[in-house]
Amino acid sequence: MSKPLTIADLKTHARRRVPKMFFDYADSGSWTEGTYRANEEDFAKVKLRQRVLVDMTNRSLATTMVGQEASMPVALAPTGLCGMQHADGEMLAAKAAEEFGVPFTLSTMSICSIEDVASVTSKPFWFQLYVMKDRDFINNLIDRAKAAKCSALMLTLDLQILGQRHKDLRNGLSAPPKWTLHHGMQLATKPFWCMDMLRTKRRGFGNIVGHAKNVSDLSSLSSWTAEQFDPQLSWKDVAWIKERWGGKLILKGILDEEDARAAAETGADAIIVSNHGGRQLDGALSSISMLPRIVDAVGDRIEVHLDGGIRSGQDVLKAVALGARGTYIGRPYLYGLGAMGKAGVTTALEIIGKEMDVTMALCGKRDIQTVDRSVIAETRL
Ligand SMILES: Cc1cc2nc3c(=O)[nH]c(=O)nc-3n(C[C@H](O)[C@H](O)[C@H](O)COP(=O)(O)O)c2cc1C
Repeated sequence: MSKPLTIADLKTHARRRVPKMFFDYADSGSWTEGTYRANEEDFAKVKLRQRVLVDMTNRSLATTMVGQEASMPVALAPTGLCGMQHADGEMLAAKAAEEFGVPFTLSTMSICSIEDVASVTSKPFWFQLYVMKDRDFINNLIDRAKAAKCSALMLTLDLQILGQRHKDLRNGLSAPPKWTLHHGMQLATKPFWCMDMLRTKRRGFGNIVGHAKNVSDLSSLSSWTAEQFDPQLSWKDVAWIKERWGGKLILKGILDEEDARAAAETGADAIIVSNHGGRQLDGALSSISMLPRIVDAVGDRIEVHLDGGIRSGQDVLKAVALGARGTYIGRPYLYGLGAMGKAGVTTALEIIGKEMDVTMALCGKRDIQTVDRSVIAETRL
């Protein structure tokens, strides 16, 4: 394998190593995938100002997100089934993030459990919550995240009903994979993935099975998920979740100024401008195009973060310049994980960090905390 220089290189490697149904699960958006594509493409519409003869020594990318230190303004986004890109994927990604000094967010729909990730990390990680109708299960999940000393809770607001992703339906996606001829053939061509997967016992939804009522095995899980996500979730629920949690709260999935204002009223610590990586409402605007409007609406009242479409350190710099205190990457680290395990997640972070550092210098800045709209030449968003 040649040394990956870009996130696109990691994607190419991941495609070779990960069974098609799981690679496609990461590399997909809902319906036409128009919003998924727009998230990436719109970053190219933001142009940077080239500056010269500015001292560029002693540069720093260090910052804070919800008051917690980060070596650069990038966190790992919560991704379901991360442990199907690589065996024990969440534990590997969390360790890579910890060593790099950036936050890792564990999804409710992870393969490794909260306790698994806590057992291999020494610094706090963040936990993402999907709200289900079974409130006992949700209360218990919040308590488990507290017991594991998670230092922020991320409440996802944009997936109470699932956007249709054609690739997953066509592939018959499940975790663990079903033993059909179609799936067997996909697995047979990925022997290294299979060998790693046979060595771990973590192949189901670790936060759910054995903890939620009537879910003792995986065959009942898909119907349980479809039935259990609460379509009546409302702003009022944010209040009791905030109270039960009692720590830093991040609201994920804001793409509208009115919703951003309502989110700021809740007393949460941050919002994430996000369309779930183009996996929910296809036809929605890209995250980066909505960022300036949302920052103008609420930027002095709540910390604003962004995810969706970041594929380089330049993209992070542009988001910071347009007012994001922090950003998240989903697919870039999943591609790294699928390609090379923990080393691949580290490589993804290194690629993004290096690109951001050099870009910042060429824009005439030495400290990420001083990057603002003055580094932008023009936007065609
Ligand atoms: C494979 C995959 C699984 C995801 N699972 C979750 C999840 O369980 N919870 C959640 O809040 N967001 C989930 N997301 C959305 C991400 O947290 C994030 O919003 C998105 O990946 C950002 O876009 P990017 O992949 O272009 O960086 C998932 C995204 C992907 C690609």
